[in-house]
Amino acid sequence: MKVILIEDYQTMSKKAANIVESQIILKPHSVLGLATGETVLGMYKEIVKSFENGDLDFSDIKTFNLDEYYGIDKENKRSYYYYMEENLFKHININNANIHIPDGMTSDIEEECKIYEEKIERCGGIDLQILGIGRNGHIGFNEPGCKFEALTHLVHLDKTTIKDNSRFFNSISEVPTKAISMGIKTIMNAKKVILLASGQEKAEALYKALRGNITPKVPASILQLHSDVTVIVDRDGASRL
Ligand code: F6R
Repeated sequence: MKVILIEDYQTMSKKAANIVESQIILKPHSVLGLATGETVLGMYKEIVKSFENGDLDFSDIKTFNLDEYYGIDKENKRSYYYYMEENLFKHININNANIHIPDGMTSDIEEECKIYEEKIERCGGIDLQILGIGRNGHIGFNEPGCKFEALTHLVHLDKTTIKDNSRFFNSISEVPTKAISMGIKTIMNAKKVILLASGQEKAEALYKALRGNITPKVPASILQLHSDVTVIVDRDGASRL
């Protein structure tokens, strides 16, 4: 595991964008695993800038998002579909057919999850998976107590996650309690992983994930067993390391 310690959020975002951009340039047919949330927003801004400067071509890039809330449709402004559209997809030349995000409105969850996994496999697997980390050590929406062997599945969100994500909703009661998420095994199958962490509130989770025991209690701790992980962390996020 490589840990890149960076001064601040802005520089962390630039570094992460730089890794994603290199992946796209070196392999224009790359399959990217994408995350949502606050941490990765700066990185997406940088990627959009590079695209606007003419440095990137997304026409053959395929993407798979980590997760989507269950019971929320694409048009809903809180959906991860909407987030991706607003923060990345509408700004770049990606082919719509190459974008994959779990369908939060599916009537057949099992089938949706199975098909999602099959699509990833058919594309040749994820070349580069981008991750954030929850305050409780989650990656994707794999919450403490998750099964390491799980593929894409329906998850029940942890109380901490519901509370943390309520900042994107009008009230905590509006936050969905379930989501469809890639499983730990899906994430571990990715060829390369980058994990971004920023701010004091992530310091404890990052410390446990990187230096603690490998345990489902800290889902991100499984990354210690992945052969190609780069953690990009700012000074506050690294304060416990
Ligand atoms: C998002 C995701 C989550 C977030 C994590 C950190 O698709 O799967 O694991 O990466 O909750 O979220 P922020 O960056 O908002 O603190």
